[in-house]
Amino acid sequence: MTQASTEMHAYYAQRAPYYDAVYLKPERQEDIAYLSQHLPDRFRGREVLELACGTGYWTQHIATSAKRLVATDWIIEPLDFARLRPGTVSVVFRQADAYALPLDLGVFDGAFAGLWFSHVPVEARVAFLQGLHRLLKPGARVVFMDNNEVQLRDFPLVETDAAGNTYQMRQLNDGSMHRVLKNFPTEAELVALLAEFGEQIEFSALDNFWMVEYVAKAL
Ligand SMILES: C[S@@+](CC[C@H](N)C(=O)[O-])C[C@H]1O[C@@H](n2cnc3c(N)ncnc32)[C@H](O)[C@@H]1O
Repeated sequence: MTQASTEMHAYYAQRAPYYDAVYLKPERQEDIAYLSQHLPDRFRGREVLELACGTGYWTQHIATSAKRLVATDWIIEPLDFARLRPGTVSVVFRQADAYALPLDLGVFDGAFAGLWFSHVPVEARVAFLQGLHRLLKPGARVVFMDNNEVQLRDFPLVETDAAGNTYQMRQLNDGSMHRVLKNFPTEAELVALLAEFGEQIEFSALDNFWMVEYVAKAL
């Protein structure tokens, strides 16, 4: 595990019981209402792999329309909360590292990761995408959604490393401070990166989030 991964692990394990507060922020409600409709529409009738599903906030929405949904996270504490989500009885929850996705998860024609891509170190992006695409059929629909710079009002950047990764300090309810790798890729950066993996790349800027969608190429 890298240092950033170890830090993430401790942070998300401890934060799991009250993680969902991020979905109660008043300024996010319009975006959340839109995404709660849009994501199920995008994945209707598809076999979907969700990465870093956390406490399953988006899982519960995608489950309403997907033909099959496998929701994964590497950290057991948020995953345990996700398993309790109403409406997810048909979802298969699996502990899986997004950087080492096992082939026995199956093959999918949809993939989603919410608030995850920002945590992928710049130098690990291509390997992460290669690992994901091993499990995707050509024509699979892929959606990544994440925080835009509005989130910096709550958590300003405190550090940038040699690879260009940026970091925030975040305090948990017990007062402990955690350094979290959090990147804010631009549309141009995402499009350049994803062109190798997909076509019909569409970037959307919401008030609080960005979203990028594409159709997987045959690799
Ligand atoms: C910001 S949360 C996003 C949770 C959820 N997708 C959402 O949108 O609410 C990031 C998630 O990444 C998970 N995570 C951290 N490292 C991971 C890894 N290597 N593989 C998969 N998930 C990981 C954490 O457990 C946490 O649930």
